[in-house]
Amino acid sequence: NKVVLAYSGGLDTSIVVPWLRENYGCEVVCFTADVGQGITELDGLEEKAKASGASQLVVKDLTEEFVKDFIFPCLRAGAIYERKYLLGTSMARPVITKAMVDVAKAVGADAVAHGCTGKGNDQVRFELTFFALNPELREWDITGREDAIEYAKKHNVPVPVTKKSIYSRDRNLWHLSHEGDILEDPANEPKKDMYMMTVDPEDAPNEPEYLEIGIVSGVPVSLDGKELSPATLLAQLNEIGGRHGVGRIDMVENRLVGMKSRGIYETPGGTILFTAVRELETLTLDRETMQFKDTMALKYAELVYAGRWFDPLRESMDAFMENITKDTTGSVRLKLYKGSVSVVGRKSPYSLYREDISSFESGEIYNQADAAGFIRLYGLPMRVRAMLEKGL
Ligand code: ARG
Ligand code: SIN
Repeated sequence: NKVVLAYSGGLDTSIVVPWLRENYGCEVVCFTADVGQGITELDGLEEKAKASGASQLVVKDLTEEFVKDFIFPCLRAGAIYERKYLLGTSMARPVITKAMVDVAKAVGADAVAHGCTGKGNDQVRFELTFFALNPELREWDITGREDAIEYAKKHNVPVPVTKKSIYSRDRNLWHLSHEGDILEDPANEPKKDMYMMTVDPEDAPNEPEYLEIGIVSGVPVSLDGKELSPATLLAQLNEIGGRHGVGRIDMVENRLVGMKSRGIYETPGGTILFTAVRELETLTLDRETMQFKDTMALKYAELVYAGRWFDPLRESMDAFMENITKDTTGSVRLKLYKGSVSVVGRKSPYSLYREDISSFESGEIYNQADAAGFIRLYGLPMRVRAMLEKGL
């Protein structure tokens, strides 16, 4: 009997280790994914895991895979949940869980476990991915973390002294989320010192900073003409965007489990990339394609939020997104200034914009005389309705 536990080193997951051993009498293998949460979180983790009774800790660096195969597809799709959320936590869960299922196979474990709260989204994301990738794995319920904490106290289980933050946070290379504490009243403004990835826009430099994002087939590839790996590009943009206070979101969202929740997100690099990719599409997509893509993006985001990454519907929609953006190649110039990202220029070798047609100077292909008949037919239904109303 062996179980693989999704392990963060935080207070709660540490308590879960001895609790699992006692309740299931099994060997516990801890698994931690590096998705860019930062070294401070990964420091001394193995000692911690072993001190709480794990037989081993497996750490995997998933950063490049996370950005390339999970973040960039969502970016290309334009996936945003409930008008604001750039899905930072939602995208990380399937890459972590997929690696966890692989580890379970490698160490010969027959079960998996996570320590997510029973009131949130993350439990759903972990469990749906377990189902999708290995339906034979048993999933062990850690019912009531309160029980576990009680248990730890009673048995004098060495609980690592992590200074427990008042906020519930989740960090990876794409974002940092803050929930809980004073944020639970949606009327409260967040405290200035809560933020960790971005400076207050008021304290950002008084000089704007310009940058150019290179994009190939809907996916960013370079910064100021320099090609960078997905994770390196994102890390650099986090640094630049963070310095200018870019990418703070304050929202109330609908969780999968029915309740509303208030959260603050910091997504500096992601906000820059979203702005760039969406802007380039204004050159490369025609009207109907863009409108249709945008309606699909809503559903795409909903599936990702709901933990249905490995759902054939999301995968098929991704094939659509890949095809429809294959000519979205070019570059976008941006200006960062005190929390804002403004587009100042865009260009593409596949641009559908033609100055010779669009220019107010008269051209060959567009004959202004054609407009008169077009307008009469285009407006016919409105005219008919107005006639009816006026009894004509
Ligand atoms: N509300 C966001 C989401 O559901 C962020 C969740 C953060 N998770 C956490 N365990 N702190 O994607
Ligand atoms: C979630 O799973 O939705 C997040 C809950 C939390 O903040 O711990």
